[in-house]
Amino acid sequence: MNDPKQSTMHPGASAARVGMKQFISVQDVKDINAMAELALNYKAHPYADRTLGADKRIGLLFLNPSLRTRLSTQVAARNLGMEAIVFNVDKEGWALEFEEGAIMSGNTVEHVKDAAPILGQYFDVLCIRTFPSLKNREDDYSEQVIKSFIQYAGVPIVSLESATLHPLQSFTDIITITEHQRLTTHPGGGRGRRPKVVLTWAPHVKPLPQCVANSFAQWMNAWGEADFVITHPEDYELAAEFAGKAPIITNQDEALKGADYVYVKNWSTYTDYGKIYSNDPGWMLTEEKIRLTNNAKVMHCLPVRRNVELSDEILDSDHSLVTRQAGNRVWAAQAVLSEVLRSL
Ligand code: CP
Repeated sequence: MNDPKQSTMHPGASAARVGMKQFISVQDVKDINAMAELALNYKAHPYADRTLGADKRIGLLFLNPSLRTRLSTQVAARNLGMEAIVFNVDKEGWALEFEEGAIMSGNTVEHVKDAAPILGQYFDVLCIRTFPSLKNREDDYSEQVIKSFIQYAGVPIVSLESATLHPLQSFTDIITITEHQRLTTHPGGGRGRRPKVVLTWAPHVKPLPQCVANSFAQWMNAWGEADFVITHPEDYELAAEFAGKAPIITNQDEALKGADYVYVKNWSTYTDYGKIYSNDPGWMLTEEKIRLTNNAKVMHCLPVRRNVELSDEILDSDHSLVTRQAGNRVWAAQAVLSEVLRSL
């Protein structure tokens, strides 16, 4: 392990080093700013803890596709000296059953209560990606899949995006805002002035989960270091448990006024669950709309449908932070995995 006396660790980052037994939402993080410092410290010194995960094995279970989450978590694990094994459960594994008491005469082959404890013997940490069905809100919002792994695996569980939340993405988003604030308004290292951050709905051709928007709202509310506003068309409200007290403005132009950061994301309807009510291209962020902002930086979790969700003119301009943001996924994952390793 890194010797703290010779450490490259920023003092703010050491405060994060309390250990973490699971990472499925912002509620698993004791101090968001300290964790962000830890992540930025890893960005400056990727191998500062290169032996922390020696002889530890991490399993990355994917029930759905991924580019960034899969690869950034593998890179992060490698930087900490861990062995990472990816298992594409949806393509290569047995179809899992999650219902308690299920009569398994249908398509499912293995119950999670049988599979998860075995995976818990193979791995020291398990990471899981599972999307919602978007068919039944109560089922999706019960987070049965990730909670079943927590119940039965017997090892720490890290969410790589679940039915309702994407905490590694949201943590990355806060790291990216923190970093950009520091680079632009306080190059000396301070946090800079309080920014205005707008989460805006964007059009899309398919009904998408609410996870990224829910999670971003949850983290922004918990962080409390920005004036946070949500804008979406009528009937696209997010679950109150995640939107919290953030002002909701259904006039996008009004919401964008004076914004320092605009977070663009599509989500399907929550109340009449999983539907597309509007595909109004007028909600796509353009150069004209950016002129309403405080020369805002634009964020998106990616992948993005160009010229549907976000215009080329924004994505290919200096307004876009999306590449930096995606790069920061490594440091977010590394900070989280390091804290999970400390809890073992
Ligand atoms: N943002 C994100 O989670 O990207 P991937 O789906 O490619 O992992």
